Amino acid sequence: MMKIFLDTANLNDIKKWNDTGIVSGVTTNPSHLSKEGGNIMKLLSDICLLMSDKPVSVEVTQTTPEDVYKQAKKIITIAPNIVVKIPCHKDYLTIIKRLIEEGVPLNITLIFTLVQSLFMCKLGVRYISPFIGRADDIGIDGSLVLHEIREMIDLYGFEKTKIIAASIRHVRHLHEAINAGSDIVTLPISLLETVLSHPLTDHGITKFLDDWKKLGITQFP
Ligand code: E4P
Repeated sequence: MMKIFLDTANLNDIKKWNDTGIVSGVTTNPSHLSKEGGNIMKLLSDICLLMSDKPVSVEVTQTTPEDVYKQAKKIITIAPNIVVKIPCHKDYLTIIKRLIEEGVPLNITLIFTLVQSLFMCKLGVRYISPFIGRADDIGIDGSLVLHEIREMIDLYGFEKTKIIAASIRHVRHLHEAINAGSDIVTLPISLLETVLSHPLTDHGITKFLDDWKKLGITQFP
C-alpha cells in the first residue's frame, strides 16, 4: 500500500491532516524545525504523541560519525515512534550498521543516486529518502532515479527498505512518485492543500447545485 507522510514540523498542520485519516507518518528536517522555533524537544514530543504509533523522522545535526551515533541514540529516546534521519555519506556507513544492529529505525536522507540507495539497502535501513525536487533543481531527472531504485529493490529482494519519495515540490513530482511505485511520498502542506482541487470539480459542484435548485425542493432527502 502506498503511504502519505507529512513533510513538516508544524503541529497544527500535522493535527489537521492527521485527522483526515490519509496520513501515515511525518518527516521533519532541521529546516522545518528551525522554521517552527521555540522548544524543539517539546515540539517533537508533541508531534510524536499526536502521531501515536505512526513514524516521525527526526534528523541528526551532528557531523562526526561518533557524534552522529551518540545523537541518534539520544533522538531515539524522544518517543517510541521516532525514526532517526541520517544523511547518506560514506563516513557514516559503520555507525549506520551499528545503529541497525542495535535496532534503531533509520531513514537515510539526501539520497540522489541508485548506488547510494543500493548501499543503504545492503545495510538494511528501514527507509531511504531520494530527493526529487533538489535533483530537478540541478537538471537531474529525479523521477528516473526513483524508477531505478524501485526496480533495483524488486530485482534484488531488498523489500526490507521502503522508498520515501522526498523533496516533492509540485503535483508533477507527486505523479512521478506514484508512477515509480514509491512506497511512501512525503508531502509539504502547501501541496496537500492544493493537490485535490480541480477547476472541473468546482465547476461540476456548482452546475449540479444550480440544476438541483431548479426543482424547487426545500427538503431532501
Ligand atoms: C524530507 O525528508 C526532506 O527533508 C524534504 O522533503 C526536503 O524537501 P525540499 O528539498 O523541498 O527542502
